[in-house]
Amino acid sequence: MLVTCALPYANGPIHIGHLLEHIQADILVRYQRMLGHEVWFICADDSHGTPIILKSRELYIHPKKLISKMFQNHICDLKCFNISYDNYSSTHHSINLYFLKKLYYTLKLNNLITLKKVIQLYDVKENIFLPDRFVQGICPNCYAKDQYGDHCELCNSVYKTIELINPVSKISNTEPVLRNSMHIFFDIAVLQNTLYEWMQTGVLHKHIVNKMKEWFYKSLKSWNISRDKPYFGFRIPDFKNKYFYVWMDAPIAYISTFKNLCYNNPLINFHEFWNINSSTELYHFIGKDIVYFHILFWPAMLESMKFRKPTKIFVHGHVKIKGMKISKSKGYVITVKKWLKYFDSDSLRYYYASKLSSKIEDIDFNVQDFIYKINSDLVNKIVNLASRSSSFLNKYFDNMLSKKLDNIKLYTQFVSVSHKIKYFFQDLDFNLVIKEVIKLSEIANQYFNHNKPWKILDPKNSIKLQEICSTAINLFRIIMIYLKPIVPNLVNKSEKFLLTILDWNNIHIPLLNHRISIFKTLYARIDTTNIDDLFK
Ligand code: MSP
Ligand code: ZN
Repeated sequence: MLVTCALPYANGPIHIGHLLEHIQADILVRYQRMLGHEVWFICADDSHGTPIILKSRELYIHPKKLISKMFQNHICDLKCFNISYDNYSSTHHSINLYFLKKLYYTLKLNNLITLKKVIQLYDVKENIFLPDRFVQGICPNCYAKDQYGDHCELCNSVYKTIELINPVSKISNTEPVLRNSMHIFFDIAVLQNTLYEWMQTGVLHKHIVNKMKEWFYKSLKSWNISRDKPYFGFRIPDFKNKYFYVWMDAPIAYISTFKNLCYNNPLINFHEFWNINSSTELYHFIGKDIVYFHILFWPAMLESMKFRKPTKIFVHGHVKIKGMKISKSKGYVITVKKWLKYFDSDSLRYYYASKLSSKIEDIDFNVQDFIYKINSDLVNKIVNLASRSSSFLNKYFDNMLSKKLDNIKLYTQFVSVSHKIKYFFQDLDFNLVIKEVIKLSEIANQYFNHNKPWKILDPKNSIKLQEICSTAINLFRIIMIYLKPIVPNLVNKSEKFLLTILDWNNIHIPLLNHRISIFKTLYARIDTTNIDDLFK
């Protein structure tokens, strides 16, 4: 299978909101790889569009310099969170241009391109055409103030930017003027029936499908795929000073980034993954704000190029902090760099997993809940199990596990939970994986407490003591196998401690008559002093 995340814009650093998606996808990818499946996981920077020019103007640097700086930053941030991409590229790559042109010429050949005159708002001070979200004004429908150029957040009406009353450019705070320009449109209405049918083939969660259906009641509007200069992107052949709209070349990077991976790994067959009859699976992870692009425009592009369409599109809600949107102007932003000053990466991965389900719900980042989940659940219940039981093995048995288990029934009970957990992973119900794991850790601790190993007289000669501790270590091992896709650093340390690879496929075979290493702290409790600084 081929798995992708939405491409982060190269106009700013990765924050913990973006990370939700990368973590969600990475957990699925690591789970599938652990089962032994062939999985390729790719993403790229979205390096084009108005936000990129505006940011580069703000920093007085060339857009190229900005995107290459951001590229290094993003790669580094995603690595720090162990997001296991096989390739991370950029939309500015020449292979991306190659596929973009291929699409464009195919559209032309199939008469899916039309030209139309468009009136747009132009910022004279900044010399730039204004995209919808860079204009604010009064809603022409309900007269609410400060509404964006395309829709009103109060009455939900959708309108054209030129209908906005008293528009103001968000860039220069001046009043924009109207300007005419010729634009290039992709006539997606022709593909309406194909798209409508495809949408209902199980690619989407049920309640998104119902919402999408509304878009199809009317005939689909043709899509403006061009932008005027000044713009940062790829130029459209045959036109002077026209650029491809960023949303045209961005999804194409799902193809080109994979192609790039194939160049470096000749064993992967590009066509096997992208030909129209492909039997491989293609999964996209996206946020709820970009559904339209992935359900309409993206499959329309694939359909025109005679490429395969996605198997599934997983849509997630947004992360909020203290109930507020993550945004520089309106609320809190916690960047990766900032997060790592206070906490490690596994803690966020674990916390998100405990919140994630297949539903499209927003996730509120709650500090108290976060601290509880790490210190009380992960450290006290799970990691402590290993430290408690290994101390006896170290003291009296030279770190050797017993030849047999004290309680085979309990071990088998832990293994049989794998049938449930398997579905939770597949269905992206990671919160249920965590719930199950916590339940198991409570049972394992009860077992240990009930047997009171510390009360055994003459511990050195007690095989029973060795077997109890070895059983507890084996239960810990099963729990860590279940957590392997979620907390890679902790699992790595646990593997070094157990001196074995944690493997789903060997779960039914207990670790016996085997020497483990000396226990070193696997995971430290979270330090909560200074935690308030995180939100400053
Ligand atoms: N560049 C486009 C995507 C192109 S895909 C062909 C884009 N970039 S983005 O940087 O704005 O967002 C990237 C992804 O991060 C999107 O899926 C978006 O939904 C997600 N998130 C951005 N902020 C988020 C939160 N606060 N919470 C969860 N996901 C968020 O859109
Ligand atoms: Zn309104």
